[in-house]
Amino acid sequence: MEITSAVLAGAGPDGLWPLIAKSALPASGADIAMVMVPTSDPDWLATPAAVGERAETLLGLPVPVDGSLAGPAFVKGQPQLWDDMATDDRFSYPPARSLLAPFFGPGMCVPVVDSDGERLGVLGVAKVRGRPGFDDQDVAMLTSFAEQAVLAKQLDDHRAQAEQLRLLEERDRIARDLHDHVISEVFATGITLQGIAAAADVEPVAQLRRRLLSLVGRLDDVVAEIRTTISGLRPSPVPHQQSTGSMRQRLLDVVQNAGGPLGFAPSLHFNGPVELIGATLAGDVVAVVREALSNTARHAHATAVRVEVTASGAELAVRVADNGRGIGDTTHRGGLRNLRARAERHRGMLAVCSHPTGTTLTWIVPVTRPATRPATHSPELAAATGLGAGST
Ligand SMILES: Nc1ncnc2c1ncn2[C@@H]1O[C@H](COP(=O)(O)OP(=O)(O)OP(=O)(O)O)[C@@H](O)[C@H]1O
Ligand SMILES: [Mg+2]
Repeated sequence: MEITSAVLAGAGPDGLWPLIAKSALPASGADIAMVMVPTSDPDWLATPAAVGERAETLLGLPVPVDGSLAGPAFVKGQPQLWDDMATDDRFSYPPARSLLAPFFGPGMCVPVVDSDGERLGVLGVAKVRGRPGFDDQDVAMLTSFAEQAVLAKQLDDHRAQAEQLRLLEERDRIARDLHDHVISEVFATGITLQGIAAAADVEPVAQLRRRLLSLVGRLDDVVAEIRTTISGLRPSPVPHQQSTGSMRQRLLDVVQNAGGPLGFAPSLHFNGPVELIGATLAGDVVAVVREALSNTARHAHATAVRVEVTASGAELAVRVADNGRGIGDTTHRGGLRNLRARAERHRGMLAVCSHPTGTTLTWIVPVTRPATRPATHSPELAAATGLGAGST
């Protein structure tokens, strides 16, 4: 329990071996407890932890696999028991004889093996000469103790892996958010700047200045998006009214900004109680619309695009339909793959229906208790999933 508590309190692997030795000492009634672990040299073990009598001499001691009893315990994975170190000729390593044998008589050591059978080290204990020796029951007790200690160590390893996974997921999220929220905005700003440059000779200076200043405002927004993305901050999820209001406004901004690169104004429609959309979902909706419009501007050669956000009781659907040339033979590289990941995070789905006369992107997620996939009888989803050739 003490070891498990230490693991839960955040003790790293380096802190665990000493704790295992420290706990093994009273548990076995021994006078010295030490942990030996493998090194890069298969002939030698190291001693990262020793507690009890003469611990300071033993800590850090190199232990040979040949000439000690820790060696066979480690190599064969079998417990070793001895009555008197001084007379047991299996202890042939001279420093061990001179350091240990004068003081310690009986002892035992057991392999520390994880659940996959990997040998992590050896736990050894000994008593000073003259005290009663250990028996098979003591060996069984120390073995089960070592197993418990391994469980705690595995818990620690899993926690480290979970943390690693969390970091990787966070990196994915940042990459996704940068792609969907930031890069397309910068791209759109670049296109608008090109337009301004082309018009510089004919447009009145005052108008050019106004357009440039509005772009400066947009770049401020992009900087804010980058900050939000990197710090993982999202607009406050409560109250809903506020976050939905900002989602409407953000969508209006996105749609308006897309007008430059598109060369025409997209239409935007809200249906149903979109007020109930939470802030996290709202962020994803904005990302979906932004990426879909960026794709239309860059790939579709369209003359019209319609954005529709529909909230029914059970699900939220975003549909972006353009009248461009369709997707054709292509793989989903960046944006579309991100949008799929955003849908799957909410247990929803992305469907892209493409024809030579246009592309319709449908992004649907359930909005109540996302424990199951959205109901397939939903008319929205049925329409999105029942796509013929050309759908993905
Ligand atoms: N509305 C669309 N009309 C025509 N083709 C499209 C449309 N949307 C996507 N495509 C095609 O699908 C491909 C994949 O789109 P996706 O968004 O995954 O990547 P991308 O836009 O090329 O790159 P990124 O999004 O990383 O900038 C595009 O390269 C393009 O060929
Ligand atoms: Mg894209």
